[in-house]
Amino acid sequence: MGNLSEIKRRRTFAIISHPDAGKTTLTEKLLLYGGAIQIAGAVKSNKIKKTATSDWMEIERQRGISVATSVMGFEYRGKKINILDTPGHQDFQEDTFRTLTAADSVIVVIDVAKGVEPQTEKLVKVCRMRNIPIMVFINKLDRPGKDAFELLDELEQKLGLAVTPLSWPIGMGSDFHGVYNMYFNNLTLFNPGSQVVEEGVAFSSLDNPGLEGYIGEKAIELRDDQELINGVYPQFNPDDYLSGKISPVFFGSALNNFGVKELLDVFIKIAPNPIGREAEERFVDPEEDSFSGFVFKIHANMDPNHRDRIAFVRVVSGTFKRNTNYKHIRLNRQLKFPSPTAFMAQKKSVIDEVFPGDIVGLHDTGNFKIGDTLTEGENINFKGMPSFSPELFKYVENADPLKSKQLAKGIDQLMDEGVAQLFTGKHNGRKIIGTVGALQFEVIQYRLEHEYGAKCRYENINLYKTAWFVSDNIEQLNDFRARKALQIAIDKEGREVFLADSKFALEMAQQKYKDIKFYFTSEF
Ligand code: G4P
Repeated sequence: MGNLSEIKRRRTFAIISHPDAGKTTLTEKLLLYGGAIQIAGAVKSNKIKKTATSDWMEIERQRGISVATSVMGFEYRGKKINILDTPGHQDFQEDTFRTLTAADSVIVVIDVAKGVEPQTEKLVKVCRMRNIPIMVFINKLDRPGKDAFELLDELEQKLGLAVTPLSWPIGMGSDFHGVYNMYFNNLTLFNPGSQVVEEGVAFSSLDNPGLEGYIGEKAIELRDDQELINGVYPQFNPDDYLSGKISPVFFGSALNNFGVKELLDVFIKIAPNPIGREAEERFVDPEEDSFSGFVFKIHANMDPNHRDRIAFVRVVSGTFKRNTNYKHIRLNRQLKFPSPTAFMAQKKSVIDEVFPGDIVGLHDTGNFKIGDTLTEGENINFKGMPSFSPELFKYVENADPLKSKQLAKGIDQLMDEGVAQLFTGKHNGRKIIGTVGALQFEVIQYRLEHEYGAKCRYENINLYKTAWFVSDNIEQLNDFRARKALQIAIDKEGREVFLADSKFALEMAQQKYKDIKFYFTSEF
């Protein structure tokens, strides 16, 4: 139980948003508080800008940045905070889903003018499926935007979140005066353009006439709003937040460094310290003595001469130690890591030990794939690393017969990294690559050529969706297999998938084969 104090002081979370809502800006301001960086502008945005460069060149540049920003650790008020970076581009949403499995909570950033946007909806849905505690930061209050009550309604309706505001804006845009924080009962005044963080003025009650002295007539509006809030929204209860039942909402302006400190101060008080993870065999508690962890991300080296990669491991329980033998469960092999890296700010450094909630980077020469578990010996397989049914498909063919080995190896490793999914037609052995975004096809082609010296060609395939399928009814299963023989493929794990060429075909199959269950994520 020696780790207990280390566990209790850790907070590992991800920031999610629709591109441009202010995720990068908020991350940067948080790091400034931790003293992890000294100047604004130090965190490179990892979004893929639609500029003159072609997308995949931009992606290569981003890959360089994203090693540095994958995990950003810093100390703040005695807490060790780990921010997990999530890619902004929607074609890389699957990376974000996987990163969420390593986070214990999330902060959702919403643009006050745009409200809830599509990508936020998708990401929050995944968080809700797992009951991840969610805090909401409504950003850009220095700009005109939607009414605060309207935004709360939108959060409830579009995201299905039960919310309660813990801070409240006083005006907005050019009329923005500041925020009243209901958690600390204090008022912070907005000073446009100033990055200086004013201490909040404490108020034991909003009836205090002193309030007028700070915000004039806005005091009446604030009191009215508070009355309405008290009538409509539940009192904040930390346990409901921790179980994912209610999400506290904050208002501010990341660019102006306004409302960020309040967010961080409440965050360190209420956000969960590392929580355990469900494995196929049992639940693993962070306070257990024995080390366990799982790979949620693999990052290939940018240098083609060194094909090693970094596997990012989330420590679930125990202490991970340098130069110690751990069991790679899938391979049933002992592995030792002489130079594990930890991530502080944007720097990597070799460390001797890491604790639950932390992320450790391990040099990998091809042993890992996403979802792999490491332990001190116990056979544990962590759950919750789903593959989603891809949305886009192409046949992949070898375009250079002399390099077929390189191609096979390249595809194999890229799939382990989780860039895309590979299916092999059962009847013809043709390989199909399935992705969630169009960019991945370019990435794969480019990386195969530059990292593996192999060339591939794509051919179109008419496919609507893939669905994993299982059944106890062997008769139905065999009938389905026989009738759909040309439309069945095998995934990398050897599981059967149905290649449905239309929505109609899929629905027909679901109707006809009532005892067969079709799944659209690999976790079933
Ligand atoms: P993202 O990571 O979620 O994609 O968003 P990012 O932080 O890059 O912010 C998107 C744009 O919104 C940036 O402007 C950023 O400066 C701006 N922004 C962030 N927070 C605020 C805020 O509180 N108020 C206002 N008015 N703007 C904000 P940009 O012009 O696209 O980029 P840049 O050239 O400033 O980097």
